[in-house]
Amino acid sequence: MFKIKDVVIDPPLVLAPVAGHTDSLFRRAVKGLGGCGLVVSELASTEGMTRRQGRTAHITRFGEEERPVAIQIFGADPARMAAAAAMVEEMGADIVDINCGCPVKKVVRQGGGSQLLRDLRRMERIFRAVRGAIRVPLTVKIRSGWDHRSINALEVLRIAEDCGVDALAIHGRTRSDFFSGKADWGIIAEVKAHARIPVMGNGDVFAPGDAGRMFRETGVDGVMLGRGVMSNPWLIRQCWDYLTTGRAAAVSLEERMEFMSAFLRRVCEEVPPAVALGKIKKVGGALSRGFPGGAQLRGKMHAARTTAEFFDALAGYYDGLRGAGLGQALAPAAPAEDGGHSDADEVEHDHRGRPPE
Ligand SMILES: Cc1cc2nc3c(=O)[nH]c(=O)nc-3n(C[C@H](O)[C@H](O)[C@H](O)COP(=O)(O)O)c2cc1C
Repeated sequence: MFKIKDVVIDPPLVLAPVAGHTDSLFRRAVKGLGGCGLVVSELASTEGMTRRQGRTAHITRFGEEERPVAIQIFGADPARMAAAAAMVEEMGADIVDINCGCPVKKVVRQGGGSQLLRDLRRMERIFRAVRGAIRVPLTVKIRSGWDHRSINALEVLRIAEDCGVDALAIHGRTRSDFFSGKADWGIIAEVKAHARIPVMGNGDVFAPGDAGRMFRETGVDGVMLGRGVMSNPWLIRQCWDYLTTGRAAAVSLEERMEFMSAFLRRVCEEVPPAVALGKIKKVGGALSRGFPGGAQLRGKMHAARTTAEFFDALAGYYDGLRGAGLGQALAPAAPAEDGGHSDADEVEHDHRGRPPE
């Protein structure tokens, strides 16, 4: 375990913020599977929170069983960031997290997300304003830099520490990498070696043994997992089992299918009907990764015009698999080439590993 100020993170494995996926329902499901010491919300727009109250309410909502929970905010205006952070504290969140890594054009153009890595004076003003507005712990999530000519994670760490930030999460890619190539765990190790505050390492933990490897190779206090959990919600528990016992039980196809059906039905109960179909297509697309004949299933799910058609496609697929005889265990699903996502409620995500504009 480790501590972020007075908040105990135990186990030291963290569910990363993933827009369009890690809403309260998903976070509760992952937490319920075990092994997860901290969950972080999807990024919430501080413009949306402070100008159009209510529009971002679904993003900042959380359940008691998620605790400890961090709510992530993004923006470029220090006063609005501070006001939004105070709102998050008022809602009862355990931690406020500032997004300094989002590569999406819409966020960057407004001066937020990874754009802050190019505007350290603004970043510092934001950190100070937010720090002054809340008493709960403050964390920041960064990339290693804007591009490979401007890697500045150590400078960002120093600013964060000077401003009273309580912990830092670093994704070992630059903004220009988007999601391409391999995450650079070397820069994560370097940040940890220089840090006085706890550091969470992030990037490319896809298999049960990967978290332990990141702890060993970088010395981080916590490991944060994103895409791997979107396709394998058991991944955090498997990492924890592997760390504590040297083994991790595989999850059977049957279990994955049952989880997927039940979860997607809950999504339909909880989200407004107008967005339910789009949401289950996205989440179902990730959860079915690694299934035999998964691409065909995804084609059918995406073609569905109603939620009834969607669940018919799923039931037909399951019947076919059951007919063929089940019971085999699945290897951890591989991540999607494109980062495994398409868009988000507030922020259109386009993380296709393309070079920046
Ligand atoms: C679809 C998608 C949405 C994401 N949304 C967020 C977000 O809202 N806030 C954030 O800080 N990072 C976001 N990320 C980045 C992840 O938190 C994480 O840093 C990244 O995926 C690398 O970790 P991984 O290799 O474990 O996935 C997103 C990533 C993806 C693929």
